[in-house]
Amino acid sequence: MDYTNLQLEENENILIVTINREKALNALNARTMQELMYLFSNDIPERSLKGVVLTGAGPKSFVAGADITEFMSMADGGGQEMAQRGHDVFFAIERSKVPVVAAVNGFALGGGCELAMSCHLRIAGEHARFGQPEVNLGIIPGYGGTQRLIQYIGKGKAMELMLTADMISASEAWQLGLVNKVVASGTEVEEATAIIQKIGAKGPIAIAKTIEAVNAYFEEGKNGFQTEVEAFGETTRTQDFKEGASAFVEKRKANFSGK
Ligand code: COA
Repeated sequence: MDYTNLQLEENENILIVTINREKALNALNARTMQELMYLFSNDIPERSLKGVVLTGAGPKSFVAGADITEFMSMADGGGQEMAQRGHDVFFAIERSKVPVVAAVNGFALGGGCELAMSCHLRIAGEHARFGQPEVNLGIIPGYGGTQRLIQYIGKGKAMELMLTADMISASEAWQLGLVNKVVASGTEVEEATAIIQKIGAKGPIAIAKTIEAVNAYFEEGKNGFQTEVEAFGETTRTQDFKEGASAFVEKRKANFSGK
């Protein structure tokens, strides 16, 4: 696929994906959603990556939501389909076998907050702002916000944010558990990359299986404990496990092959 709204840069097996619509504060239009779907469903699984950093172009915004200029067409129908497509994209991100870290470099509102929440970790610049302001437009969060915000910050605070449409600062988001780390503005991508480098030194199958087992807790029809039992069994049958255990006994650094 020719990416027009995503900018991709791969360095040392870390893919930095920039949503590149700075003039619209990187709002997610239909084309951007299509590109994200292709990227996470087709492109990323074909690459040999330690992880992905997702960020927005420019210093002001990560993603300021779904593209409101495209919303008008929904008034005549199509809203449910749009939400379903959004869910498919964000589940593809959440189920990525390699870690996806959101480098939140500004506004993360509506679909932007939902996008950040579908990533495995969130690093926020000091100036970042989070919120689900959809009720201002007479709609509700449609890309998983009503479900994932509860998972991160609990029902009471999630309800408050979604009913009032209030924005919160990066430090408040950190206190609530929505953000993993707050860093100096402008260093979000660097810090997100550093975390992926750290994770990249571990066994890749163990990383993928950890993501799968944690996700299972929240997935309908899945038993998280059973998923963990099976995933643990699978990891013990890998060469990575032999290497990791041998390296510990031999007091050396493990060199994982991902097999
Ligand atoms: N969809 C489409 N365009 C958007 C957008 C969105 N979600 N958010 C911002 N933009 C556009 C603005 O229309 C503006 O375009 P223009 O220069 O052609 O007029 C440009 O991005 C800059 O935004 P502006 O509102 O001028 O910046 P600001 O600093 O005054 O305010 C925000 C920033 C983020 C507070 C404000 O843009 C906003 O509230 N955006 C909508 C957020 C939202 O409701 N998201 C959920 C959607 S479901």
